[in-house]
Amino acid sequence: MEKLEVKGLHHHFGFTEILRDISFTLDKGEVLSIVGPSGGGKTTLLHLCADLLDVEEGSVTNSFASSSYAFQEDRLLPWKNVIDNIALGLLAKGDKKSVAIEKSQEIALKFGLEEEDFEKFPKDLSGGMKQRVSFARALVVKPSLLFLDEPFSALDIGLKKELQAILIEMISKKEISVLFITHDLMEAIRLSDEILLLKADPGHIVKKFQYDLPQDKRDDKYVYGESAKILQDDEIIDTFELELR
Ligand SMILES: Nc1ncnc2c1ncn2[C@@H]1O[C@H](COP(=O)(O)OP(=O)(O)O)[C@@H](O)[C@H]1O
Ligand SMILES: [Mg+2]
Repeated sequence: MEKLEVKGLHHHFGFTEILRDISFTLDKGEVLSIVGPSGGGKTTLLHLCADLLDVEEGSVTNSFASSSYAFQEDRLLPWKNVIDNIALGLLAKGDKKSVAIEKSQEIALKFGLEEEDFEKFPKDLSGGMKQRVSFARALVVKPSLLFLDEPFSALDIGLKKELQAILIEMISKKEISVLFITHDLMEAIRLSDEILLLKADPGHIVKKFQYDLPQDKRDDKYVYGESAKILQDDEIIDTFELELR
């Protein structure tokens, strides 16, 4: 069975302790979110899980057949056009150029880009379009595990919902497992099977929340209702330093 297993992970940058004793397991078909405030070590944790940063102490064992990563910032190559940016991972995987281009065009259209955008370079794209390209690039390779670092945080509400809907469709068909990092509780409640709450200084997990209703059955009312519940939780209030007065 494919899974990602994190055990007793600690991390420092210089003398600063960033993460303390992080352990969790992400099983196949599951969406696991790590939610916490900015600066809490979420991106660092995701980098360690995705092997983009060396593990100092503890272990990360990833037995998923394939994975891809959507970065918090879009990280497109400025000298490649939309389609060539999307096709990068496919070509790296060994797809023939013509096949890679065809798959990239198909997913670009699905992600709301238009044919007239295909030849454009990143400098000529709006922020939202860049994020569509970035997300398409991560998904076109059909990864069994997707690492997502706040890919929706800079988007307007319409585009956010559109891209989330694509992801929810894949999640519901059990096509993908996701390790999702966000500071947005509502977003986490919409997408996750399980939420781990990461408190800062140093980042450590203080609580878990489980959501059993299938993602494609969760409407706004469900998300608002569950958010209202979770916002009463003392650990949530403390972690986000919320002032509910
Ligand atoms: N490469 C690095 N070198 C030194 N400090 C870093 C580095 N990357 C991140 N940090 C620091 O680690 C802390 C956690 O950062 P990060 O993992 O990006 O948090 P989050 O994604 O939750 O906002 C921050 O204080 C940040 O300044
Ligand atoms: Mg981050």
